[in-house]
Amino acid sequence: MYGRETPAGAGEAPGAFVRKVTVPEIRGRKAAGPPIAMVTAYDFTMGLLVDEGGADVVLVGDSLGMVVQGLPNTLPVTIDEICYHSRAVARGLRRAHLVADMPFMSFQLSAEDALRNAGKLMKEGACEAVKLEGGAEVAPHVARIVSAGIPVMGHIGLLPQSVHAMGGFKVQGKQEDEADRLIRDARALEDAGCYSIVIEGVPADVAGRITEAVAVPTIGIGAGPQCDGQVLVCYDFLGMFRGLRPKFVKRYAELGDAVVEATRAYVDEVRAGAFPTEAHSFGIKAVARKTA
Ligand code: KIV
Repeated sequence: MYGRETPAGAGEAPGAFVRKVTVPEIRGRKAAGPPIAMVTAYDFTMGLLVDEGGADVVLVGDSLGMVVQGLPNTLPVTIDEICYHSRAVARGLRRAHLVADMPFMSFQLSAEDALRNAGKLMKEGACEAVKLEGGAEVAPHVARIVSAGIPVMGHIGLLPQSVHAMGGFKVQGKQEDEADRLIRDARALEDAGCYSIVIEGVPADVAGRITEAVAVPTIGIGAGPQCDGQVLVCYDFLGMFRGLRPKFVKRYAELGDAVVEATRAYVDEVRAGAFPTEAHSFGIKAVARKTA
């Protein structure tokens, strides 16, 4: 059978193969379900873990500027940084479909520039699709990328790369004319060839109307339950990024607390001379300890 299959991992029968989630499969989820479960990841280890956890789609988001680099917004993130992180995540994925974000100013200048940068992400970032922010105004650039055989995921609503124009990270589409514009944007992206569209920070009923208006799946973040899938930033749903607690984030773990507690336990044991013991040493029978 044609298609990408990855060999068995640790603990699986030799010869067992896992089928990669594909673009046609994601499109098909609109009608057939189940809802698409998408998460972000930024490195190999997180890629391995979220893949094992069953995520259908993994996004190397430019949110890495905020949660990995500690920046106040995503604007400074570069195409080379996304390539670097995407390559690392790709090595960890067996089943999940990998999407890499096109950062600010990597797709706006011209359709040719957008295609060049999307191609760079596919070749150097080992991703299987790219995502870019914007509506009807970026549709010609989407069409140019799609014409080269590169799948494109759209992104409408709250656009973090337009944070200054929006006056902050604010819910979009609250007024009727804004909601109508979002529906037009989604249709323009669908017509340009997007195989799915992220809807961020939009009232649930508006996201529902957008979802009904297009034939491609919508993937919501802060956009309610009527989308065809959901996406969350891994550091948010794992409780690692503790600075902000946006309403739309559900924490499925408190790994931030776990990291702090584990680090405290380690620090205490090192200071008390309780780590390492023989169990964590190589061929040492007796160790003269320095307990400071
Ligand atoms: O950069 C990102 O992580 C994103 C998701 C929030 C959709 O664009």
